[in-house]
Amino acid sequence: MIINVITSIPDILDAANHGILGHAIKNKQITLNIIPLRAFSDRADGRIDDRPYGGGAGMVIQPHVMSKAIASIGKSHFIELCPKGQRLNQKLARSFAKKDNITLICGRYEGIDARIEPLIDQKVSIGDYVLSGGELPALIMIDAIGRLIPGVIKTESVENDSFENGLLDHEHYTRPENWEENKVPSVLLEGNHQKIEDYRLMQSLGKTWLNRPDLLLNRKLNERELALLVKFMQNHQRRGEDYD
Ligand code: ADE
Repeated sequence: MIINVITSIPDILDAANHGILGHAIKNKQITLNIIPLRAFSDRADGRIDDRPYGGGAGMVIQPHVMSKAIASIGKSHFIELCPKGQRLNQKLARSFAKKDNITLICGRYEGIDARIEPLIDQKVSIGDYVLSGGELPALIMIDAIGRLIPGVIKTESVENDSFENGLLDHEHYTRPENWEENKVPSVLLEGNHQKIEDYRLMQSLGKTWLNRPDLLLNRKLNERELALLVKFMQNHQRRGEDYD
């Protein structure tokens, strides 16, 4: 998959060259093209922004600079990162992971001149807060999309992730078995795979109910899930514990 990023601060995108993403780039599962916006400035000082018409604070990225940067890429799916966009979630990340070529456009300052809108396919926000630019959101997009590209990580890991089945992921444990008086739940040590699956699903349902009840409103529960959630709720109410 090709991911292009148009940015006025290319150095921030260096962070993509580490960890799982870094591997995926080295293995050519992701081709990351960083396009420095300043290269398209028509001013001697390399500036790409100007004061807003109508007055007000902040600066606005000039339309001809951005349009030249966009034109330099050719055919792609152009996504502007800005707080006004559609909120990023796992489903949206999955839809981007299916594409061959996407371009992330990072705004800065007060934004980009509104006249470039016809050149943009979609606007995406990573949450209801304002950052000083689109570079960190672009990194978040690249990470969320990159790990969904087949072969980048084990499919099984992706399938069990939070949000993949509309629920939060269950808890995970590793050695040592006893740590500072805290024991690993015994069901995980007994080797009964059906019981382990039930336990993990119950934890997923229970944690979602406690921390993100809104997710349950948008998801139908089957009979098994409903029974496990009721069991979690009963244990929770009875002893403030998750499982016996
Ligand atoms: N740029 C500034 N804030 C942003 C946000 N919340 N999401 C995406 N891009 C942004």
